[in-house]
Amino acid sequence: MKGKVSVVGAGNVGATAAQRLAEKELCDVVLVDIVDGVPQGKALDLNEAAPIEKHDAHLTGTNTYEATAESDIVIITAGIPRKPGMSRDDLISTNAGIMKNVTEQVVKYSPNCVLIIVSNPLDAMCHVAYEASRFPKNRVIGMAGVLDSARFRAFISMELNVSVENTHAFVLGGHGDTMVPLPRFSTVAGIPITELLPKDRIDALVERTANGGAEIVSLLKTGSAYYAPASAAVEMAESILKDKKKILPCAAYLEGEYGISDLFIGVPVKLGRSGIEQIVEITLTEQERGALMKSADAVKELKSVLAKLT
Ligand code: NAI
Ligand code: 2OP
Repeated sequence: MKGKVSVVGAGNVGATAAQRLAEKELCDVVLVDIVDGVPQGKALDLNEAAPIEKHDAHLTGTNTYEATAESDIVIITAGIPRKPGMSRDDLISTNAGIMKNVTEQVVKYSPNCVLIIVSNPLDAMCHVAYEASRFPKNRVIGMAGVLDSARFRAFISMELNVSVENTHAFVLGGHGDTMVPLPRFSTVAGIPITELLPKDRIDALVERTANGGAEIVSLLKTGSAYYAPASAAVEMAESILKDKKKILPCAAYLEGEYGISDLFIGVPVKLGRSGIEQIVEITLTEQERGALMKSADAVKELKSVLAKLT
């Protein structure tokens, strides 16, 4: 039986995710947006591309939630993106209201779905969705680490002139300036990059990764990245739909793991049919642990901003 994924927010990330889901023939897709005509138009356009792209996934566009009923996964990208000069955190009050409203609608029709949260500021939006959905923690997952790791991998491949397929990378922590790329666990054909590159070059790649979102915003000027973010959300959805049990860095609700409690933050998790099936704890050096704690403090600060909004 075909799976069903709903994507809320038919903007840049949402529509691109819908396209990738359909072209990989992973599921039928329901695209939801508040703007009348936009999800309908994009879904129809994608259905008309299907004969050429050779897939039988069916896309539906809508401004209400009835058609999302019984989704296996709902990807939430609704909200505003940042513009030059804005940080992800500047979006918090607008996007928190949108996230709460959207999540309440989604769970009414798909009480058993897995939620993949994309809207920014990511870790804070996961908290909003977790509270509004009242879902168990394994079914609320934030997309950020897969994107940040893909950026790190792309930069490693450019630096060493090797295939991206040879690269692996791990980026932990919150999706912001304090994210924690881990060179020790980042490899080319299994070889840690610490053995392939001098420290100053690794530091430069780490810094470019942490600023990866801002680099795209400064080029696009009117919005933020969406091709790689959509790919990242779809990799997570694919692992869940196919029960692949991939280990991917995702924002997960921690209850003591890594010495952190009551907080969504990026850590390696196993993604299968029921969502997060395991949080993988790796032993960090003192310096890596310190960086993760600093990142956790930044997410806690955002959480306290959320508390003041409600
Ligand atoms: P966009 O502006 O292209 O699309 C957002 C869409 O959400 C718009 O079509 C808008 O009409 C819709 N929307 C707004 N309120 C809504 C509501 N109440 N119900 C349904 N739809 C609603 O923005 P884009 O580029 O797609 O980014 C979406 C969000 O994802 C932003 O918050 C952005 O910062 C975030 N993002 C997060 C990433 C991550 O790594 N977690 C990566 C890239 C983007
Ligand atoms: C990014 O990292 C805006 O969070 C988004 O591109």
